[in-house]
Amino acid sequence: MLSGAKNSALKLLAASLLTDEPCTIRRVPRITDVATMVAMLRALGADVEHAGDALRVHAGAALNGCAPYELVRTMRASIIVMGPLVARLGEATIAMPGGCNIGPRRIDFHIRGLEKLGATVEINHGFIKIHSSQLKAAVVPLDYPSVGATENLLMAATAADGETVIENAAREPEIIDLCDFLRGMGAVIEGAGSSTIHIEGGHALHGVDHEVVADRIEAGTYLIMGVATGGEVTTKGLDPMHLELFLGKLRGMGVDVRVADRSITVRRDGPLAPIDISTLPHPGFATDLQAQMMALLSLAEGTSIVTENVFENRFVVVDELNRLGAGISTSGHHAIVEGPRALSGSVVEAPDLRGGAALVTAGLVAEGVTDVGAVHHIDRGYEDLAGKLAALGADVTRVGEGPRTGEGPPSSLSSYDEASPGVRAGAGGGGT
Ligand code: UD1
Repeated sequence: MLSGAKNSALKLLAASLLTDEPCTIRRVPRITDVATMVAMLRALGADVEHAGDALRVHAGAALNGCAPYELVRTMRASIIVMGPLVARLGEATIAMPGGCNIGPRRIDFHIRGLEKLGATVEINHGFIKIHSSQLKAAVVPLDYPSVGATENLLMAATAADGETVIENAAREPEIIDLCDFLRGMGAVIEGAGSSTIHIEGGHALHGVDHEVVADRIEAGTYLIMGVATGGEVTTKGLDPMHLELFLGKLRGMGVDVRVADRSITVRRDGPLAPIDISTLPHPGFATDLQAQMMALLSLAEGTSIVTENVFENRFVVVDELNRLGAGISTSGHHAIVEGPRALSGSVVEAPDLRGGAALVTAGLVAEGVTDVGAVHHIDRGYEDLAGKLAALGADVTRVGEGPRTGEGPPSSLSSYDEASPGVRAGAGGGGT
């Protein structure tokens, strides 16, 4: 079963702060980043209740504008409360973020954009203080289509008098999901999914009931794992357009990719061809699939070049993949992946969220046992990774903190079906 997208759920939870009415968010993934955001909302004075996989957020009169360091430090995405808080309360004090070990992650676009909307921003003693008695609509051009900045500005602009235009906006499916959520609350927004988004601010926002869009990065990860192991994997519930470029790359490697309405099936019969990938903002190749793809390219018959354009220092998993037998070297923001390599199991440590998924991918293929440590990184963004992989026929168990792969013969993944979790088909057999 595909979970709701981490990168959408976190933002929808924050957006619930924009109204004093309760909001219900369905298909929220059970991951630690969501737990951190729930703790943040509670620290801000909101009530958050669980109802199955739905969360109900009620940010009533007790809402305060102070986002504490302990939580922002744990999860950089917490800065997304900045826009809603300044919109709702006219002020916010947010600790400066820490976050993933993937290079410096600045927030200058967020701050410049909020200043364009008339907010004053001061940074002192590790805290960002934002104040505005009344936000004003403006044209806000972003130097780069930053996902987080687009989202913070979208939410702030709902309270700005007049029409705000975000130029060079991010176009990720999670941005569209946030706009749908805001529209459900009564906001007037046009252009979601394009580079120019218009927001007519000043409309009173009310509660909403919304289901989170399916997680394209989770889907891409399981599809990669399926191809790596030579099994057949089907994801259901995700619009294939959300992974269009990625699926084209898999086809370029010789993978049989079939798409139907909200269903994607991958199957590999023969050898994999090397390809080059270059990460870019959506609709380009997602940086969040880059590490897992390096694990897969290690199995291809030849040399592939991976170029990381979105984040600095996002090749932190390379040394660990090489410990499993991969042949990857890096030079600046390029990685050269030599294949094919016969991977062999070892003890490795997840350096970050997607790097952890890449190590599990390699571990599924590697001969012998692979122990992946520091699995708390994986828990940040993958709901029950070991359980879902086991349902696909993989040999993965969670031991203590981490998943262990490959105690039997190399795994071959079968079917992954949102409607029927745990459906199994023989290797190469007819999955759904
Ligand atoms: C979001 C996703 C993350 C994904 C990334 C890119 C969430 C919780 N996280 O992160 O999984 O990998 O989009 O698709 O949704 N930058 C600046 N100044 C800023 C903002 C960003 O220089 O004010 C730079 C960053 O350092 C980075 C690049 O822009 O190099 C992209 O960042 P951005 O698109 O903002 O990513 P996030 O929203 O942090």
